[in-house]
Amino acid sequence: MLKLENIDKWYGDYHALKTVNADIKKGEVVVVCGPSGSGKSTLIRTITRLEEIQAGRILFEDKDIYGRAVDVNQLRARVGFVFQSFNLFQNMSVRDNLTLGPVKVLGISRDEANARAQELLVKVGLEKKIDAMPANLSGGQQQRVAIARALAMQPALMLFDEPTSALDPEMVSEVLQVMQALARDGMTMLIVSHEMGFAREVSSRVWFMDNGELLEDAPPDEFFCNPQHPRARKFLQDVVRPHDRIKAPMAA
Ligand SMILES: Nc1ncnc2c1ncn2[C@@H]1O[C@H](COP(=O)(O)OP(=O)(O)OP(=O)(O)O)[C@@H](O)[C@H]1O
Ligand SMILES: [Mg+2]
Repeated sequence: MLKLENIDKWYGDYHALKTVNADIKKGEVVVVCGPSGSGKSTLIRTITRLEEIQAGRILFEDKDIYGRAVDVNQLRARVGFVFQSFNLFQNMSVRDNLTLGPVKVLGISRDEANARAQELLVKVGLEKKIDAMPANLSGGQQQRVAIARALAMQPALMLFDEPTSALDPEMVSEVLQVMQALARDGMTMLIVSHEMGFAREVSSRVWFMDNGELLEDAPPDEFFCNPQHPRARKFLQDVVRPHDRIKAPMAA
C-alpha cells in the first residue's frame, strides 16, 4: 500500500531524514518510535505531502504521490491523519465535524453522511455526543471524535502522530482501545507513539528511528526481546514502562 524509497529530507542544512526505505502492506499496523527529534513526525508528514522530500520516492497505492496525476486533496482524502492536538473544528458540533468532509469533498448526501457519522460515533463510544460542541468534551473524547472524523473520509491508510501524548493519563486507554479496535477491523495504520505496551500488543511491526535514520524494522516480539541496534536497546531501557495501559476499561 505504501512504499518509501530512499527518502531524504533536509530542513535547510539539517538532514532530517537519511535515506529511509520502508513499506507497509494492506492491513498492517506499524508503530514508529524513537527519541525526540529523531524524525518520526517528519517521516509521517511526508506521506501526505505536509512536508516535501528532496530525494527518493513515496508510492501510495502504487502511485508516486508527487506524480502529476496525483491531486493533493484526493491524496489527503485517502490518507487519514490524526494529530497530537485534536484539531477539531471548534465552532462546529461533532456531527458537523464528521459530515463536512464527506459532503464537501466526497460528495455524498447529507443523510448518508449523517448515518455514517452515527455509526462511527458508536464505534468510538460517543454516540450520545453527536450534537455536542468540542469544547464540552474531554480531551480523550475529542481525540476519539478526531479519529471518527478521519474515518468518515473512508481512508485506505490512517496516520497517527502521538495521538495520546496530549491527553491526561486516565484518557489514554480509551483512545488506544479505539485504535486497537480499528486494527482488529483490518485498518492499515502508521502510528507514531511512545506507548510501548500498545506497540507490543497491537502492531505488526515496529520502526525505530534515531537521528533521521530508520534503524530497525521488526515484528514487535523481535524488537522488544532482541533489538539489534545499541541505540534501540538504550531507547527501550529509557521508555518501557511496567504497566500496560491498553487493558484498562474504556470510559464513554
Ligand atoms: N519546520 C522545521 N524546520 C527546521 N527543522 C525542523 C522543522 N521541523 C522539524 N525540524 C527538526 O527536524 C528534526 C526532526 O523533527 P521531528 O519533529 O520529525 O522529530 P520527532 O521524532 O517527531 O520528535 P518528537 O518525538 O519530539 O515529536 C528535529 O531536529 C527538529 O528540530
Ligand atoms: Mg513528533
